[in-house]
Amino acid sequence: MFTNDLLKGKRILITGGGTGIGRAMAERFLQLGATVYICGRRVEVVQQTAKELASATGGTIEGLPCDVRERDAVEQLIEQVWTKGPLDVLVNNAAGNFLARTEELSPRAFESVLGIVLQGTINMTMACGKRWLVAGHRGVVLDIATTYADTGSAYVVPSAVAKAGVVALMRSLAVEWGGRGIRFVAIAPGAIRTEGAFSRLLPTPELEKKLLEHNPLHRFGTLEEISNLASFLISDLAGYINGEMVYMDGGEMLAGASTFSLIGRRIPDAAWEMMKPKKKTE
Ligand code: COA
Repeated sequence: MFTNDLLKGKRILITGGGTGIGRAMAERFLQLGATVYICGRRVEVVQQTAKELASATGGTIEGLPCDVRERDAVEQLIEQVWTKGPLDVLVNNAAGNFLARTEELSPRAFESVLGIVLQGTINMTMACGKRWLVAGHRGVVLDIATTYADTGSAYVVPSAVAKAGVVALMRSLAVEWGGRGIRFVAIAPGAIRTEGAFSRLLPTPELEKKLLEHNPLHRFGTLEEISNLASFLISDLAGYINGEMVYMDGGEMLAGASTFSLIGRRIPDAAWEMMKPKKKTE
């Protein structure tokens, strides 16, 4: 889809880059010529991933420990990265989520998810944004949001609240900082199979089956698809896309968005025939 130098010369940081979607994006960005930094809470995981991706792609990648909830830790990390040169792209991918009945959540459960998703994104965006603005350096921020960021969602309420905040931050700063060379984009992915997400959000084969039935394309998204979309959005090819969130969910949100989308696909052929207008007889 792309030429291999699409991201040549770009220095990119991906939070939560040791596993799942973050790791897949790191691999794709390396293939496309970028220098990549990944960070995560577990130092051994990010370092192992960096090692594996370096040997798989021949690219330049470094794995660094960081808990994005901690502002001081974020500042330290960004300072460390900047000593080698300014970043060009920040990907806020680190997330926390689980299925739970909201009335049973402890205050710490809210704090934990809001801390990673919303405060983490704010910490990273501010640390990079301030440096870019002072230096007049162009930058791109890509946030991995979610399809329910605009609607809210039952049973993943801390995540819904946090992701709504992330999208509000993205859209706000797209306007405030856009004119000063900083571009903001987001992806709202539907279900993509990763250990982290599926073990917490789709823990049984029955739930997976229900979701696949509901999705118009009857399949999950792939790591390849989201990595390619991310590559395009952060590249100069997408230079006029600012403040936009791209849904990549096979049409799943729209399938639940109206009464008729919801019920129409369950109406049997015989019933459609009955509903057709009767032929007028003389
Ligand atoms: N249901 C309800 N509450 C839960 C929960 C669940 N499945 N999982 C965790 N919590 C609560 C804990 O009970 C704790 O509250 P408490 O101290 O009052 O008991 C609070 O959330 C924090 O959990 P803890 O494990 O101590 O925090 P953590 O900061 O190390 O972990 C999480 C953060 C909870 C988000 C953890 O799931 C995680 O690390 N996730 C990262 C990966 C991920 O979620 N990927 C999926 C992205 S789609």
